[in-house]
Amino acid sequence: MRIAMIGTGYVGLVSGACFSDFGHEVVCVDKDARKIELLHQNVMPIYEPGLDALVASNVKAGRLSFTTDLAEGVKDADAVFIAVGTPSRRGDGHADLSYVFAAAREIAENLTKPSVIVTKSTVPVGTGDEVERIIAEVAPNSGAKVVSNPEFLREGAAIEDFKRPDRVVVGTEDEFARQVMREIYRPLSLNQSAPVLFTGRRTSELIKYAANAFLAVKITFINEIADLCEQVGADVQEVSRGIGMDNRIGGKFLHAGPGYGGSCFPKDTLALMKTAADNETPLRIVEATVQVNDARKRAMGRKVIKAMGGDVRGKTVGILGLTFKPNTDDMRDAPSLSIIAALQDAGATVKAYDPEGVEQASKMLTDVEFVENPYAAADGADALVIVTEWDAFRALDLTRIKNSLKSPVLVDLRNIYPPAELERAGLQYTGVGKPS
Ligand code: UGA
Repeated sequence: MRIAMIGTGYVGLVSGACFSDFGHEVVCVDKDARKIELLHQNVMPIYEPGLDALVASNVKAGRLSFTTDLAEGVKDADAVFIAVGTPSRRGDGHADLSYVFAAAREIAENLTKPSVIVTKSTVPVGTGDEVERIIAEVAPNSGAKVVSNPEFLREGAAIEDFKRPDRVVVGTEDEFARQVMREIYRPLSLNQSAPVLFTGRRTSELIKYAANAFLAVKITFINEIADLCEQVGADVQEVSRGIGMDNRIGGKFLHAGPGYGGSCFPKDTLALMKTAADNETPLRIVEATVQVNDARKRAMGRKVIKAMGGDVRGKTVGILGLTFKPNTDDMRDAPSLSIIAALQDAGATVKAYDPEGVEQASKMLTDVEFVENPYAAADGADALVIVTEWDAFRALDLTRIKNSLKSPVLVDLRNIYPPAELERAGLQYTGVGKPS
């Protein structure tokens, strides 16, 4: 199959590289000439483990190429994937679809055969209808079909998620489009039995939002249970285990922490709420989740202040981990931003270490000293706070940490250390949802 991937952001680049690795011929298109130039030199615009090697081997094999020329990419393509951004529109939280519609228009102008146009970007219900309208208006005789095919990739595990998905969702009412999509994903079913779920297009669009909203609800639920655990002397990690062993609940996404962040859950929950409100069907559970999660990120700053005795004026706090989760350089809606703001507002000085996030973080944070390793973050600080659970923080020399700190306060907002281990090293421990 010949595939054009419009947009070399996170989703487009990972999907394009993985499709080419399946053996398809893939052309990735982006308007940003600098990005394409870097990709020609095998420099990835994002940090994703394994991506550079995957791109390099498929470029070498002649199956993957990059261009700024959309016409060249779309020419003779069996399928054209739209993988451009859908950020939250400023002011109203609706997904901004202008990039999707502009891409649809340009694709339509350059179609040379009845290609299948696939929306991979996360788009509100009904967007496929609008893309179809644009294609019909610009290229009325193209015979192109419009399909929804949402992505379920997690940053940091995107290649694994693409190649070994729980399911692939394809939304189309058209038989020819279904055949093309079946062919594109055929390598998955040869290696394993990843089900391809065919649905209507609108249903597929909603599945994406419902999945992300459900996961956000799940995390927020366990975070509130964590707060209750602290009040009643229970342990949230054991509660998670205890409820997660029930197959109807499932153990994943039940890790209590400082609140969810990232480029997806915050944006997608807002967009879903807007769709729901527009259709006079408010989703109250999702609304509550968004409010609780926003409040939680700020509350985590107060938690640190409390652990430090209630007054942080003139004190220094070391932060371990800035990105919204490990194995990414993504800082969007990261809990660290709210936590650091709360600490600075209360008069503390902050220094921070993150393995990959400093470049992005330095654009979003002011008056933070970025240091070279975890021990430097602890050096002379009045407390050390684990905000993101990078593997590099899981086996720290705790005695060295204790000796580096001015006062031995450690706040573990990801519960990566057993309290007893920290206490043995002489550290005053605060976790999330742990009995005190
Ligand atoms: C999420 C979904 O997991 C993907 O399936 C989806 O494709 C993607 O959004 C998207 O829509 O593009 P992602 O945002 O990369 O993926 O990251 P997650 O691993 O889902 O984590 C999101 C946030 O939830 C992070 O801040 C993480 O720390 C937090 N989280 C996750 C918890 O606090 N507890 C958990 O148990 C799990």
